[in-house]
Amino acid sequence: MGREINLLEALPKKIKRNVAARRREKARNRHAALAFGKAYFDGSREQGYGGYRYDGRWVPVAHRLIDHFGLKPGERVLDVGCAKGFLVKDLLGACPGLEVYGLDISLYALARAPQEAAGRLVAGTADRLPFADGSFDAVVSINTVHNLERARCLRALAEIERLAPGRGFVQVDAYRSAEERRLFEDWMLTALTHGSPEDWKEMFSSAGYSGDYYWTILEADPETLIT
Ligand SMILES: C[S@@+](CC[C@H](N)C(=O)[O-])C[C@H]1O[C@@H](n2cnc3c(N)ncnc32)[C@H](O)[C@@H]1O
Repeated sequence: MGREINLLEALPKKIKRNVAARRREKARNRHAALAFGKAYFDGSREQGYGGYRYDGRWVPVAHRLIDHFGLKPGERVLDVGCAKGFLVKDLLGACPGLEVYGLDISLYALARAPQEAAGRLVAGTADRLPFADGSFDAVVSINTVHNLERARCLRALAEIERLAPGRGFVQVDAYRSAEERRLFEDWMLTALTHGSPEDWKEMFSSAGYSGDYYWTILEADPETLIT
């Protein structure tokens, strides 16, 4: 079985979040975000990222993933839910010769990828990956499979396993307490499947997913959250 491991620890931690502002028109904000278009990536913070721009934050994560999987030039890695392809660009930069690909459902995001990722990104859905069994040396999927409703989320996990048996890394939204769940529900816009780490481990097992995993957990930190 896979193991719990934080491969994203180099990402910025102290991100300010105005939970109260996002909660105010939650239904409208969720509806806008779920189109995974301009509003979600480059619109207001209430409806998504508030500007999804390249700033180099994925560079150390790319190195960490390459070390973790022992990836070498000529090997193949896929990022499922690659958005604008920033991690694809940084994996290519961190290991020249690595064959890196990305897949995302958002035509808006894919059309705004850096030129380094040109020809490496495909439009598609995580629960129907258009690649052959065992055709990757590693598949990563960060904060993406929770955007599918449960049956499709399980299929997406099975798809990752199919492409790279035991060589996946999946990060998903989770909560460990009633308080964290409340915060999560106030802040999140697009997750259709969610649960505690234990719930997720059961889903991994029923999907036959045997890769590694970690959680995105919104903690009740008065320094960064306006609630
Ligand atoms: C929270 S963003 C994460 C993007 C990127 N992995 C990151 O961590 O910055 C979620 C991504 O999942 C994509 N997405 C949503 N539903 C999807 C689906 N069914 N198949 C593939 N990608 C999907 C969205 O377009 C978006 O790029």
